[in-house]
Amino acid sequence: MKGIILAGGKGTRLYPLTIAISKQILPVYDKPMVYYPLSMLMLAGIREILVISTPDALPAFKDLLKDGSQWGLKFDYAEQAEPRGLADAFLVGREFIGGSPVCLILGDNIFYGQGMASLLQECASLKEGAIIFGYKVNDPHRYGIVEFDDQDNVISIEEKPIQPRSSYAVPGIYFYDDQVVRLAESIEPSARGELEITDLNKAYLKNGQLKAKLFGRGVAWLDAGTHESLLQAAMFIEAIQQRQGLMISCPEEIAYRMGYISLDQLRDLGKTLAGNSYGEYVLSIAR
Ligand code: G1P
Repeated sequence: MKGIILAGGKGTRLYPLTIAISKQILPVYDKPMVYYPLSMLMLAGIREILVISTPDALPAFKDLLKDGSQWGLKFDYAEQAEPRGLADAFLVGREFIGGSPVCLILGDNIFYGQGMASLLQECASLKEGAIIFGYKVNDPHRYGIVEFDDQDNVISIEEKPIQPRSSYAVPGIYFYDDQVVRLAESIEPSARGELEITDLNKAYLKNGQLKAKLFGRGVAWLDAGTHESLLQAAMFIEAIQQRQGLMISCPEEIAYRMGYISLDQLRDLGKTLAGNSYGEYVLSIAR
């Protein structure tokens, strides 16, 4: 399976922070925001990854992430000039995807919790259909909302409903089979002029091929799209990391633990980052 990180948009809800810098490169405590979704793909066992961003922001992503080989990965980059919606990622990424199944993750979605890696790896073995997730939230009208049974079958899915049928929001991580490009091509822009991921999911639902899995209450799903939520996410990461002495979403550590890089490579990465607590942490894992 291949992966796509969608890191576009203007980030206007974070102005003036995001006038000159892409939202997904802003810090969430001690690392750039995009490291968090990237880590989810890495934990899922996905190593070929397309990063989509705006023409202005793409050079910064290339500076930060490089070709991926330092972490045993392979990055491609593509431009999305206008925010044409989440499902547009599959049109932008058409060539990259080829005939492969693909996981899309949003560059500002942060996940943390027990059992994530095994759940993601199970989803990454998807052969047919699509898998989305459900996560209980307080404010369901702000999200895509899914209703599903105890066999993971989706009953309904709606984008930002005024009267939600459930309180399960659909977080920004989606797994699709090799039909995704064709189905994305078939959907029409919504009233806000975007190709909605919910409409793509509805196309899978219509074919009886949409499953939803629950992220339980032990999983944290944070979004970092406003000043308050960005600070809250940073404080959450800081609190857990300080308590445990373990890092959340450290690509160097994950690359080593997943067997993508050797111990020597990990040590070298630690040395290049040395002189601060992040580099010290990487070196401590190598020790
Ligand atoms: C998008 C999707 C929505 C999903 C959300 C997750 O919303 O349209 O279905 O629940 O991402 O972050 P948007 O951020 O485009 O309003």
